[in-house]
This record gives sequence, structure tokens and C-alpha cells, in this order.
Amino acid sequence: MIDKKLGFGIIGCGMIANWHADAIKQIDRAQLIGVTDINDAAREAFSKKYGIKSFESMEALLASPEVDVVCVCTPSGLHAPIAIKVANAGKHIIIEKPMAITTQECDDIIKACETNKVKMAVISQLRFTDAIQRLKDAVNKNLLGRLIMGDIYMKYYRSPEYYKSGGWKGTKKMDGGGALMNQGIHGIDLLQYVMGPVKTVFGHAKTLSRNIEVEDTASALLEFENGALGVIQGTTSIYPGYSRRLEVNGDKGSIIVEEDTILSWDIEGQERPKDLNIGRSAAGSASNPAAFSVDGHIKQISDMVDAIIYDRKPLVDQYEGKKPVEIILAIYESSQTGKIVRL
Ligand SMILES: NC(=O)c1ccc[n+]([C@@H]2O[C@H](COP(=O)([O-])OP(=O)(O)OC[C@H]3O[C@@H](n4cnc5c(N)ncnc54)[C@H](O)[C@@H]3O)[C@@H](O)[C@H]2O)c1
Repeated sequence: MIDKKLGFGIIGCGMIANWHADAIKQIDRAQLIGVTDINDAAREAFSKKYGIKSFESMEALLASPEVDVVCVCTPSGLHAPIAIKVANAGKHIIIEKPMAITTQECDDIIKACETNKVKMAVISQLRFTDAIQRLKDAVNKNLLGRLIMGDIYMKYYRSPEYYKSGGWKGTKKMDGGGALMNQGIHGIDLLQYVMGPVKTVFGHAKTLSRNIEVEDTASALLEFENGALGVIQGTTSIYPGYSRRLEVNGDKGSIIVEEDTILSWDIEGQERPKDLNIGRSAAGSASNPAAFSVDGHIKQISDMVDAIIYDRKPLVDQYEGKKPVEIILAIYESSQTGKIVRL
């Protein structure tokens, strides 16, 4: 057991870095040490906002003995090269989603973590919501019976201006994909977390409305290893944008989660649990990328802090983080070849 506060550094201080900093500040066993960014003005402003060090370079941040854990919050195409440097510096890693944008890059990160014996958590903050944990628990306890269907619908709105901001969104090199690789990966991770491994996919990925290099709309049919079937639908091009909906159906029951709220819970021969919070959810980030709370990051970063202190696995480690990336890349491959892809 480690008996000290863990020091945190952040690489890349754009939008999501604020969620990391706000979360770390609320975790007892964590201390935010400093930040770095290639944009000097941005890192200076961020260091002032949070009262932390402003490191001139990533190398300087990685050389600091005060830093035990590094949050990688850069554009997605830079996740792999930066994560490998962090691992080689012997620091634990919290990396934003997607873990990386190719399976080769995911494998390179996995190897670097294994070689350097550092832990990694890949952000998938929605796994930590009560609704998803209740759903996962119900499936684990076989309350839904044999799983028959698992579907995720992510019909979002991102404006043309959104894609122009930051200079990297919607690009093949830095975003790696669009409606699935950037926005949809959250829901795809939840789907495979609850339903289990995906066996095959057949997909279409298209750019229908936005002027970007990657897909703004995709649809895929899935077969899971357990035999169940499913659908993934993701877009960033429809007005006005709707809440994410995850539907899990078995031959003994069905549960539907909308954003982070259970919309329905129907199990044959059983009353609904009295403590279940059922209802419509708030709109979430369906049409506003910044409209989500810091709670998920607090829970996931706390899980990682515990994993380091007590030397156990975090809930979403590097092996888990690779799974939704593999599914998304298989959908892209299927769309290009017109064939079913086996994972
Ligand atoms: N978990 C979530 O819900 C969620 C939400 C939004 C974004 N994200 C992910 O977070 C990552 C960042 O997204 P964002 O919206 O914060 O982007 P952003 O454009 O707002 O910020 C990225 C920052 O990285 C900096 N940067 C670029 N190259 C760098 C380098 N080589 N070294 C150091 N800094 C560098 C940029 O200057 C910028 O300040 C992406 O991978 C994205 O997918 C996750």
C-alpha cells in the first residue's frame, strides 16, 4: 500500500483537462501538481486557474519527481506517442478516450505499460454511473435471462462550427474517426461492457452532412459472442440531437438506460427494486459537447487512485480500453469492404 498523496500532471489543457483538474481537486488522496501544453498561453492560463505549476515541456513534466500519474488530454491522434513516453518515464497514465486510434497503437501502449510496470486507466466515465452499474449487476445476476438484443442509439448534433474549433476534430489523423470514434465510443464501450464481447459486425459509415474527413453517421449490425444480436447507430448530424439510449433485452427481462438514467426496468415476475431511480434523463451532451458533470471523472480517477494505492487493476485498464476501439475499426473496415468483419 502506498501511504502518500499521489501527484498528478496533465498534458494538454483544452476543454476536457478542466474535468480532470476539477476531479483531482476533489479526491483526497490526489494532488494536482502541474500542467503542460504546446500552447504557452493556454498552459499559463490553466496553471493560474488551478494554482499549479506550468511545465515548459512534456519532458519537464515527466522529469518531475512530484508527478506520479499523468492525465493525457491531447487530441486523440497524439494519445499513443505521448502515452508511450509517459510509460517510459515510469509514471502511471490516465488517458482520455479513445485510448488510441489504431489497434497497433493500442498494442504499443499496452507493451509500454507492461515493460515499465505502470498502470493505465482509459476514460469511460459513463461506466461509473449508478444506472450502468445497476444494469451490469442485473445482467451478471442473470435477471434478464438469456440475452437476446443489445442496442445503442447515439443520435447527436455537432455544429459545423464545432468541427472547425481546435483544428483537429473531424480529421483522420488526429480524431481517427467521427461519430463513432469520437462521440460514439462512450456508448459502444457501455454496450460491450454489458453485453460481452462482439463476434461480428456489418457496418456502414458515411459523411452525409458535415464537411469532415471522417464519418458523421454510422450504422452497424452486431452479433455478440453469446449469440445475441444488436445495433449501433451514431451520428453527429441530426437536429436537434437526442439523448443516448442503451437497450438490453433478454428472454426474462429488459432494461433501458437513457443517458445516465434508467428509463425502464421490466423483469418477469419481479417488482422493480424500491430504490431504483427511474425517469427521463436530462439531455446530456446530445447537442452540447460540454454538457456533462464532473462526477464520472471523479469516480473513475478515484478508482485509479485506489488501484495504484492498493496495487489492483482499475475498472477500465488498457486491455478494456482497446475493446471499443477494435469494434469501431471493424465497423469502418466492414463499411469499406462491404463484408462482415469478425473480431
Ligand atoms: N471523456 C469525455 O467525455 C471527453 C470529452 C471531450 C473530449 N475528450 C477527449 O479528450 C481529448 C482532448 O479533447 P479536448 O476537447 O479537450 O480538445 P482541445 O482541443 O480542447 O484540447 C487539446 C489540447 O491539447 C493541446 N496539445 C496539442 N498537442 C499537444 C502536445 N503535443 N503536447 C501537449 N499539448 C498538446 C492543445 O494545445 C489543446 O490545448 C480527446 O482525445 C477527446 O476525445 C473526452
